[in-house]
Amino acid sequence: MDEGVLFYAWRDCLFRVPDGVQAPKAGSRFFCRHLSVRPGERVLELGAGLGLAAVLAAKAGAAVVATDVVPEAVAAVRANAALNGVIIDARLGDCYAPVAGERFDVVCSNPPQMPTPPGADREDAQAAADNGGPDGWALLDRIIAGAPEHLAPRGRLLFTIFDFLGVKTALAKLEAVGLAPSVLARETQAFPRIGYERLAHLRAMDREATLPAGRPATVERLLLEGRAR
Ligand SMILES: C[S@@+](CC[C@H](N)C(=O)[O-])C[C@H]1O[C@@H](n2cnc3c(N)ncnc32)[C@H](O)[C@@H]1O
Repeated sequence: MDEGVLFYAWRDCLFRVPDGVQAPKAGSRFFCRHLSVRPGERVLELGAGLGLAAVLAAKAGAAVVATDVVPEAVAAVRANAALNGVIIDARLGDCYAPVAGERFDVVCSNPPQMPTPPGADREDAQAAADNGGPDGWALLDRIIAGAPEHLAPRGRLLFTIFDFLGVKTALAKLEAVGLAPSVLARETQAFPRIGYERLAHLRAMDREATLPAGRPATVERLLLEGRAR
C-alpha cells in the first residue's frame, strides 16, 4: 500500500514500470532510436515489454499490435498506451501466435537473446526478458522463420542483436528465409551485467570470435533488417 510507483520518462513520454516487467535498457533505447515507421503503417512488435517502442511507433502514426508472453507486460502496454494518449492493440501470447494469419508492413523486436547456460533458465518474467536459449537465438530463430508469412509485400523485419550472436550468421539466416538482409545501425554499449555472469558460456557460443580476451568493457549492438522482396 505504501511502496510507491516506478515511472520511466523518455522522449516526452511517461511509462509505468510495474513489478515483473523489465525497465527499458540501453538496448531498448537503441532499438527505438533507429526504429523508423511511417504514419499509417501496420507495425507488429513482438516482446513489447512495457511498450516503449510500441508507444513511440503509435505516436508516429503507425497502427500498432504489440505482443508479449508475460501477462503483466501486456497490461503495462495497455496502461502505457492510455497514459500517452495512443491506441495500441496489445495481445498476450508466444511469438506470432496472437497474430496468426495477419500481415504487417513492419515486424520488429528487441528480443531476449542472452545465451543461457544449462541450469540458468527459469520461468519468471526477468528470465523471459533476458534468456535467449543456449546460443541466444531461440526466439530470434522463430521470429525470422515466421517473418515471411507475416510481412506485407516490401515489408521489413527489424531486430536487435548483440554482436556475439554473429552478424554474418544473422545476415545468412535472413537470406535463408528469402529476406534481403542489411545492417541498419550499430552502437557501442557497456557490456551487460548478465553477460559478465555468463562470460564463459558466451565465449563457448561466440561463433564469430567477437569477444576480446580478458574482461570486455563494451559490446556492439546492431539493428538488422530483412526486407521482403
Ligand atoms: C529484452 S525484453 C524487450 C522489451 C522491450 N521491447 C524493450 O525493448 O524494452 C524482451 C521481451 O520479450 C518478451 N518475450 C520473451 N519471450 C517471448 C515470446 N516467446 N513471445 C513474446 N514475447 C516474449 C519478454 O517478456 C520481454 O518483455
